[in-house]
Amino acid sequence: MDTNSNSKNDTGVLLIGHGSRLPYNKEVVRAIAEKYAQTQPDYNIEVGFMELAEPNIPTAFNKLKESGVNRIIVTPVFLAHGMHTKRDIPTILGLEPADIEKELGHDHEHGHHHHHHHDHGEEHGHHHHHHHHDEEAETVEFDGEIIYTEPLGADEAIVDIIAERVNPHL
Ligand code: NI
Repeated sequence: MDTNSNSKNDTGVLLIGHGSRLPYNKEVVRAIAEKYAQTQPDYNIEVGFMELAEPNIPTAFNKLKESGVNRIIVTPVFLAHGMHTKRDIPTILGLEPADIEKELGHDHEHGHHHHHHHDHGEEHGHHHHHHHHDEEAETVEFDGEIIYTEPLGADEAIVDIIAERVNPHL
């Protein structure tokens, strides 16, 4: 019997990876999601990618939405916050993006973020429409609740992984 006020069918989980032109990011993020899904087999769990890999965030989000959930928990599988987690992903999700210009200490009039955008797009060698903040971006529409969590962060579990990689060589 489900004692939780939220039925499991009411809640979905969206894990977001960055994406890459090479397959490794997608493979790793999908593998992480599959392992996580095994720990929560009763929930709908989808993976979406910020750029350069499919499904994109709206496609993955809408798949969860169409499953009939009214809450979607979104976690960026990113180590740290950055432009994507602070600005781009919230924008796609229809949430309030962070005031990046303020965090950068930039004067809005200088329009620095335009340069950051284009630099980032060129860095990826690819101009994905999500990088063009001022242009029309594909966003989601959802009447339910979106819970947007922190990225992975400086967690002990991450330290354990670092130790596994490094310690055998010490
Ligand atoms: Ni990027």
